[in-house]
Amino acid sequence: PAAPQTAGNSRDAFTSSFGVLAATLGSAVGLGNIWKFPYVTGANGGASFLVVYVLATLLVGLPVMIAEIMLGRKAKADAVTTLRTLAPAGQPWWLIGGFGVIAAFLIMSFYSEVAAWVFAYVFKALRGDILSSDPAVTSAAFGALISDPLQSLLWQWAVLLMIGGILLMGVAKGIEAVTKKLMPVLFLLLLVICARSLMLPGAMAGLSFLFTPDWSKITGEVVLVAMGLAFFKLSIGMGTMMTYGSYFRDDQNVPATTLRVMSADLFVSMLAGIAIFPAVFSFGFKPEAGPSLLFITIPAVFASMPMGHLFMVLFFVLAAVAATGAMLSILEVPVSVMAGRLGVSRKKATLVNLLLLALIGATCALSNSLLADVKPFGMTFFDLFDYISSYILMPLGGIFICLFVAWVWGKHNMAAALSNDGRLANGKVVAGLYVLLKFVTPLLILLVMLKGLGLL
Ligand code: PFF
Repeated sequence: PAAPQTAGNSRDAFTSSFGVLAATLGSAVGLGNIWKFPYVTGANGGASFLVVYVLATLLVGLPVMIAEIMLGRKAKADAVTTLRTLAPAGQPWWLIGGFGVIAAFLIMSFYSEVAAWVFAYVFKALRGDILSSDPAVTSAAFGALISDPLQSLLWQWAVLLMIGGILLMGVAKGIEAVTKKLMPVLFLLLLVICARSLMLPGAMAGLSFLFTPDWSKITGEVVLVAMGLAFFKLSIGMGTMMTYGSYFRDDQNVPATTLRVMSADLFVSMLAGIAIFPAVFSFGFKPEAGPSLLFITIPAVFASMPMGHLFMVLFFVLAAVAATGAMLSILEVPVSVMAGRLGVSRKKATLVNLLLLALIGATCALSNSLLADVKPFGMTFFDLFDYISSYILMPLGGIFICLFVAWVWGKHNMAAALSNDGRLANGKVVAGLYVLLKFVTPLLILLVMLKGLGLL
C-alpha cells in the first residue's frame, strides 16, 4: 500500500468555519430529510416514531458522529488510512473504512437514482407535466418515468456527472464553495414552502399526526427503522464523517459543531414534515404512501393549492439542492480512499469511481424496468442496497467505531483529539462521550439490530 497522505498545510481542506458547517450540514441534509424522513414517519405511526428517532439520534447518532469527525481530524487522511494510522500496528480496524467504501457505493447507487427522479421532476414541474390533483394521474406520470429504462439511466448519469464535476474542483473550491451557496438557499425555500403549507385549511390535522404519539405502533422493527434513519441522516457508520472530519480546521470545536449540525438536520426534517403533512391532510391524501409519497402524493397536493405550480417547482428545486450536498459527501469517501491509498490523482480517482458507479448504479436505475423481476433476497437491487446499508453496514460500522475509540484508542487520546489548537476539551464532555461510546451506544445498536432483524 502507498504511504499515508501527509498531514500538512498543503492538503486540500475546508477553509472557514462557515465552510465546515455548510459542507457537514450539506452531507447530513438531503433526500433523507425530504424523501425518507416524511415517508418512514408517515408509514410508522407519525409522532411516536419521531420520538424514537430523536432518541436514536441523541444516544447513537451524536456520539458516533463526534467520534468519526474526531478521528478524521486527528489523522487528516481518508477513512482507511485514518484507521490504519490510529490503530495499533497489525490490527485490522481499517476494515471499517473498507466497508465504508462498499456502503458508499451501495448508497450512492440508489440515492443517485432518487436524485435522478428529483432532477427530472424539476423539469416536469416547470413544464406543468405533473400538475394534476388526481393521484391516479401523478402516479401514472411517476410510473412512466421509473419504468422507462433509458430515462432512468440518463437522468442518473447526468446527476453523477454533475457531482463528479463538483468533486473534480476539489474540497475547498468544489465541495465547500458549492455547499456554502446551496445551504442558505435550502433553508429559504423550505421556510417559504412551510409557510404555504401551514396557511392551508385543515393544516392542524397534519401537525397533530406529526406531533401526537401512538405508542402502539412501536415494534422492534420500527425501532430498527428509526435507528437506521438516524445513521443515514447523519451520514455516519461508513466513513463519510471521518472523511469530512479530515478536512476540519484544527481550531474547530468538534462536539459543538457536531451538535449544531445534528440540531440543524433535525430542524430541517421537522420543517420538511411541517411542509408536507399539513398539505397532505388538508387535501385528504394518506400519509402512508411509502417511497412514492414525494413523487405521487406531493405533486397532487401542490396541484390542489392556489399557486401550486410555482410551489411545486420550488419544492423539487429544494429537494435537488439537498440531494447535491449529500451526494458530494457519499462519493468523496471512495474518491479520497482511492487517491490516498493508491496514490492516484484526485482527478483519476473521481473518474474511475464515477465509471464504477455508472455501472453499479444502473442496477438501481433499472430496478423498476428491465431488472424489476431480479430480486436477490426477495428485494429489487434498489431496495436491497437501501436495506443492507441502513440496517446492516452503517449500524455495524457504528458499533466498531465505538469499540475502537473507547476500548482501543482510549480516553486519553480522545481528550487530546477533542482539544482544539491547544485549548483543552471540556472534561465533562469527554467523560460523558467516553461512557456513551464504551458501553451505551454500541450495546444499544447491537440490541436494536438483533431485535429488529428478528435474531433476538
Ligand atoms: N445524510 C444524507 C441524507 O439524509 O440524505 C444521506 C447520506 C449522505 C447517507 C452521506 C450517507 C452518507 F455517507
